[in-house]
Amino acid sequence: MTERKQLNIGLFGFGCVGFGLYQVLEKSAGIKANLLKICVKNKTKIRQIPAENFTFIPDDILDDPNINVVIELIDDSEAAFKIVKKALLNGKAVITANKKMIADHFLEILELQEQTNLPVLYEAAACASIPIIRNLEEYYDNDYLNRIEGIVNGSTNFILSKTFEKGMSYADALSLAQEVGYAESNPELDVLGIDACNKLIILIAHAFGLVLRPESILTIGIDKIGDLELRYAREKGYKIKLIAQAIKHQSDTISATVAPQFVKNDSPLFSVDDVYNGVITETVFADRQFFSGKGAGDFPTASAVLSDMSALSYDYKYEYRKLNQNLVTKLSDDVSLDVFVRGNNEDETIFKSYFNVVKELYKDGNNCYLIGSIELVQLKKLSNDFPAASILLFDSLKSEENKIEELNLINSI
Ligand code: HSE
Repeated sequence: MTERKQLNIGLFGFGCVGFGLYQVLEKSAGIKANLLKICVKNKTKIRQIPAENFTFIPDDILDDPNINVVIELIDDSEAAFKIVKKALLNGKAVITANKKMIADHFLEILELQEQTNLPVLYEAAACASIPIIRNLEEYYDNDYLNRIEGIVNGSTNFILSKTFEKGMSYADALSLAQEVGYAESNPELDVLGIDACNKLIILIAHAFGLVLRPESILTIGIDKIGDLELRYAREKGYKIKLIAQAIKHQSDTISATVAPQFVKNDSPLFSVDDVYNGVITETVFADRQFFSGKGAGDFPTASAVLSDMSALSYDYKYEYRKLNQNLVTKLSDDVSLDVFVRGNNEDETIFKSYFNVVKELYKDGNNCYLIGSIELVQLKKLSNDFPAASILLFDSLKSEENKIEELNLINSI
């Protein structure tokens, strides 16, 4: 049996997830881990554990030769990157939950891992308790993913569930998401879809082997959703969910979006409510699979960190196999989507000019909405040109079903 490595840990951050991890470690038998120091920023905050556990000086951890693992759970992504970089250069393995830091610095983090031959693990950074990264990395190593689609942000799903089903106001639902520790310190990252986009960047890297910049992906939040859309969804029996998706084309390209979507009751994502996340994968061999679990909060996120700790104790590191396979080389906006776009009454004519086909048009005293198909490149323009427009997608981004026999690649397995 492989001997498990002793982990001597320096922890950065003692907020919702940091304290959650502390409690989880107290209860978890089996993992050989000593939490040696915790670095925090706020010197005056009263904390639930004795003061001697804390330092305010990052180098107390980063320069401590007894510490072999740095766990980074702070919310400032640039400060987090500096910590991660120095930790690796000083010979320490890293676990982080900072999706923004990873999405903003992905290539540098890959290079640092290569240069130092040390692992950076981040299961908690996407979908918290769902072990999606390790699955994409290991389970689908030799299967060909056609599509990944999911609810990857707990706060917005919580807000949408509370406003849509329970009739709570948007502001109250957002405050509640903040109170229970689901939302980011800057909740705009959640409601504008940025957090979901950062997570999609991570999923795409492991699913398709492509490292994208967040700004290259159409990202629409839930902040513009209004009564007309809610009424439309209720009348049709749909729910509205913030969906992150990426689909592989038969060429070496993928298309990706983050946007609110009308979800029908035949989708597994229809029943993913409150703080739950859900991810659907479609692959050539395994076909369709569905993962679900809590997507935010102290213990669900800490559980993923704990799982990374366990993996580290067996010397696990990501191999980034899809990156090395080089099957997907670029992002394509050359794809048609079915959309719902609402604006002011006078926007109708100009909105139409972005569409390929308008299938339905509605107008009342103040508002109009158009439903139809539009090229992704045109939708990006429309959302830039009309930042106040409410844009929702229908489930129209279908995979082209790469048949096994069409994949000459099969011989390469
Ligand atoms: N704010 C994030 C969310 C936290 O709501 O999903 C977990 O990544």
